[in-house]
Amino acid sequence: MVNIAVLGYGTVGSGVVEVLTTNRESIAKKAGEDINIKYVLDLRDFEGDPIQEKIVHDYDVILNDEDIKIVVEVMGGINPAYTFVKDALLKGKSVATSNKELVAKHGAELLRIAKENKVNFLFEASVGGGIPIIRPLNNSLTADEINEITGILNGTTNYILSKMSAEGLDFDTVLKDAQDKGYAERNPEADVEGHDACRKIAILTSLAYGKQVDFEKIQTEGITKITDTDIKYAKKLNGSIKLLGQSKKVGDEVFAIVAPIMIGANHPLFHVNDVFNGIFVNGNMIGDAMFYGPGAGKLPTASAVVADVVDEVKHLGVNITSIWSEEKLKLGDIKKAKYKYFIRFADSVKLDAVKEAFGAVTTVDAGISGEFAVITEEMSQENFEEKIKGFDGVLNTIRTEL
Ligand code: HSE
Repeated sequence: MVNIAVLGYGTVGSGVVEVLTTNRESIAKKAGEDINIKYVLDLRDFEGDPIQEKIVHDYDVILNDEDIKIVVEVMGGINPAYTFVKDALLKGKSVATSNKELVAKHGAELLRIAKENKVNFLFEASVGGGIPIIRPLNNSLTADEINEITGILNGTTNYILSKMSAEGLDFDTVLKDAQDKGYAERNPEADVEGHDACRKIAILTSLAYGKQVDFEKIQTEGITKITDTDIKYAKKLNGSIKLLGQSKKVGDEVFAIVAPIMIGANHPLFHVNDVFNGIFVNGNMIGDAMFYGPGAGKLPTASAVVADVVDEVKHLGVNITSIWSEEKLKLGDIKKAKYKYFIRFADSVKLDAVKEAFGAVTTVDAGISGEFAVITEEMSQENFEEKIKGFDGVLNTIRTEL
């Protein structure tokens, strides 16, 4: 039997307990050992709940118990999670976590400490919830060089954009509905401003290229400026607007961005709707591969965490190699990355002036009065910004792959 401790009895923590209880026998067969939750660390007490007998408030009880081989960190945030995880690894305990903030900021260092201590630091649930994507990048796709990772990595914003599109509603109305239903946080900034997706694409890019990508270096735009009118145009073009986290290798450089991007019906991520996540990977041998599923939620996320625990049970005393090092990956200058741009202008702007500035453009007519829209040819962001600043009456601009 292998004893583990769970740090945090919130949504994911209680999910981990539920998964390990519900599937105890089949998990034991797959792990080769019974997995026993010995402690659950939480500030709260849970009177009347059977979990109460496992609750401890002092982390040292877990740290100093040599019976504990694996620590599950599902508290979220950097502090005290970082210290707890680091101390566990230094004490020779493996760690499984769903904490994307922690992995994005300290993943490389924690992987090194795990290796030095012949234990494991696994984080499948930190990106894409229940979708296997970390393990494929670490194991299944190691024969490939990765050319592109593009993902719908945030369920909240995908729900909002899907509902705006399906029901013709504006951003604020849908956000409020999502909050009332508990899909979106009361403070939705991390999701709607793209910060959550940014951390996730930083993790995936670090794993794909084996060097640390600092999330602060990734240009990040959220969805708060996307309007119901933009979506009408997207639909007219048989496309849709998705918040994408993207990293692309162009020559020797990797360009990374988080931004709303218009995509067409032939794009593999077009049909990823509601709270689902989807991750498209292009490798130089496999070609295009898609990973799709529930990107959040108690049991899907807990499923990925427990799968990491099973892997750790199977590898007690043996470190599973990961190529993600602490050396920094120097990202390409995103201002030089090329996209087509969808631009909406007020009627006061002359189409001829737009053509003069941008060259060949395709006009888009969605029957909206008082304005018109165009799609440019592919151009660098710096070139686009230089040209667009010469115009008054720009209603919105969105990158497009249409
Ligand atoms: N807030 C995240 C989302 C939760 O909406 O996708 C999962 O990381």
